[in-house]
Amino acid sequence: MRAEEVRVRALASDDLDACWEIEREAYPNPWRRDHFDELLDLDAGLGLAAVDQDDGILGYALGWVVTDEAELANIAVEASWRRRGIGARLLYAFAREAERRGAERVWLEVRESNAEARRFYDRHGFLMVGRRRGYYDRPREDAIVMAADPADLEEADEGRGLVRDT
Ligand SMILES: CC(C)(COP(=O)(O)OP(=O)(O)OC[C@H]1O[C@@H](n2cnc3c(N)ncnc32)[C@H](O)[C@@H]1OP(=O)(O)O)[C@@H](O)C(=O)NCCC(=O)NCCS
Repeated sequence: MRAEEVRVRALASDDLDACWEIEREAYPNPWRRDHFDELLDLDAGLGLAAVDQDDGILGYALGWVVTDEAELANIAVEASWRRRGIGARLLYAFAREAERRGAERVWLEVRESNAEARRFYDRHGFLMVGRRRGYYDRPREDAIVMAADPADLEEADEGRGLVRDT
C-alpha cells in the first residue's frame, strides 16, 4: 500500500487501544493509556488517525486548540510504516483542522535528543523558537519548542503535492 492510499480521519475512542500499542513501541517513556481518553474527551481536543484500507490504525496525532493557539501534544507512526509520508499527512491534517478552528500558530515540544522527530518537524516547516530546561523526565532532558503558522504548512503541503484528505 502506498502512503497516498492511507486515509486520515478523526480519532475515535475505539481507536485508542491501537494507538496505545503504537505509543508503547514508539517511546521509552510512553503516555499512560488514560491520558489518551482524557485528551480526546476535551472540547478543545483534536485527534486524528492515519488508517489503512481496512481502517487499521497506522499512526495518530493528538493535541488541542485553545483560542488562536494549537498544541500538537503527540504524533507517532507505527515503526514499519515510517518514512513513507504518513507522519507528514497527519501533521498537515492537524494543522489544517487547527486552522479551521481558528489557530494561528501550532506549537510543539520535542526531546532534544529525538533527532528523528526534530528532522521531521524541521523538514515540514516548523522552526525552533525556544527551549524548556529539564522539561522531560526519565531521562531528565530539555525540550526544544517549535512552532509553525498553519498557513505556511499549507503552502509547504501544496508544494509537496500530498493528497488531500476529505
Ligand atoms: C516522527 C514520526 C512521527 C515521523 O513519521 P514518518 O511517517 O516517518 O514521517 P514522514 O515519512 O512523513 O517524514 C519523513 C521525514 O522526516 C525526517 N525523518 C523521519 N525519520 C527520520 C530518521 N530516522 N532519520 C532522519 N530523518 C528522518 C526526514 O526528513 C524524512 O524525510 P525522508 O524520508 O524523505 O528523508 C515517526 O518517526 C515516529 O513515530 N517517531 C516516534 C515517535 C516520535 O518521536 N514522535 C515525535 C514526538 S515529539
